[in-house]
Amino acid sequence: MDKAQILVASNRGPVSFSIDDDGGLRHRRGGGGLVSGLSSAAAQADTLWVCAALSDADRQAAARAPEGRLDRAGFDVGGTSVRMLDIPPATFANAYTSVANSTLWFVHHMLYDTPNKPGFGAGFRAEWADYRAYNAAFAEGLLTGSADNARVAVQDYHLALVPRMLRGRRPDLRISHFSHTPWAPPEYFRMLPADIGRELLEGMLGADHLGFLSRRWADAFLRCCETFLRADVDWAKRTVEYGSRVIGVAVHPLGADADGLRERAAADDVAERRAALRERVGDRRLIVRVDRTELSKNIVRGLDAYREMLRDHPEWHGRVTHLAFAYPSRGDVPEYREYTESVLRVAKEINEEFGTDSWTPLILEVNDDYPRSLAAYRLADVLLVNPIRDGMNLVAKEGPVLSDDGCALVLSTEAGAADELGAHALLVNPYDVSETARALHTALEMPDAERRERGAHLAEKATAVSPQRWFGDQLRALG
Ligand code: F6P
Repeated sequence: MDKAQILVASNRGPVSFSIDDDGGLRHRRGGGGLVSGLSSAAAQADTLWVCAALSDADRQAAARAPEGRLDRAGFDVGGTSVRMLDIPPATFANAYTSVANSTLWFVHHMLYDTPNKPGFGAGFRAEWADYRAYNAAFAEGLLTGSADNARVAVQDYHLALVPRMLRGRRPDLRISHFSHTPWAPPEYFRMLPADIGRELLEGMLGADHLGFLSRRWADAFLRCCETFLRADVDWAKRTVEYGSRVIGVAVHPLGADADGLRERAAADDVAERRAALRERVGDRRLIVRVDRTELSKNIVRGLDAYREMLRDHPEWHGRVTHLAFAYPSRGDVPEYREYTESVLRVAKEINEEFGTDSWTPLILEVNDDYPRSLAAYRLADVLLVNPIRDGMNLVAKEGPVLSDDGCALVLSTEAGAADELGAHALLVNPYDVSETARALHTALEMPDAERRERGAHLAEKATAVSPQRWFGDQLRALG
């Protein structure tokens, strides 16, 4: 395949590389919700996935691949053609760490407004110039890889400017953009400098079709278009008219990949970890959470809620264990490093307050062990998902699918997943630690029959839109 009919663009691709002790390149599946969602859906012969080289090992792999195409270098990249872009490290750091993760992520999750965050001065303008350059590198990679009239599916806040860049040079392309995050309401989005806010919105409106995970985030985007661009929004049709073009704005709620997950969870490494966990916790009830070490996931308040529950309900002492598995994330951003420290500190306090020689109330692990997370989903009696704001949250969907005996879900109202799972979950205000503590107690006490019934409903709702259908719907929206 030389020129692709279908192209996907995302910062993080389906594989990442590392260098062995003997200097050889090893590759593994890329991490994160976007990659889990897209990997199975994009594994088609006529699809080219364009992503960034994220490390020196990735750059080495890209350098060995003809035209940067990893599949042509003999790497198994999951049935997809992959082109890794070698973006200069300084440009990448400014675009990914400073603009995308330290600014846009914080704005969309409504976390920016803290005293330590810098204002938008000359330094930010320089970083923004690199964000543009990084988006331009993606546009270039997509342009050279696309056949006439190809369909291009651009992903996420890292690449907000790409649709307009493509449209300006190749009007034949049919372009979508999908946001895997929430979108900030105008009252919050307006903290960005006005010209930069406009550039972001206009960049995305270069697409033909825009997708969001929840109606809440789509509505916020439409309101931003009305407020900052004076664009014409047709709320009944859910379109934006801007610059004599009409752009569709739709909700595509991504579901869990039931078959892929079950197959992966049936593997030996998951069975081994399941047995090891069971041995470690005995027959105690299990509250499980799995997150990146991410501020928006609200891990500290979740731990506070567990502590409050143990204080209010001594009857659980010795009878419950909280497994909190956290993947290290975005260590280049100072807030993430500080946040991880806070998580570790609170965890230590809890074990010091309640732990005994024979009982560790909380097992917190900050490392990357995917099969162990799947083993924990299988064993969970209760799954805690309490983000302060989250595009979807696939953990809330994957846990119930894998649970051996049905799990109760304590779920934040502010996760996109609450739209579909709310009726069968115990919904909580993520800031309300006492409410979360009460919900944990209710979930632990839930009769087996009710827990299984709720768990079955959750699993059904969680898999209603498979990743294949989710991606197919977006391609169909392009005609
Ligand atoms: O949309 C959220 C996202 O960008 C997804 O790609 C993924 O779930 C997560 O954040 C991972 O972030 P990063 O690629 O910065 O580790």
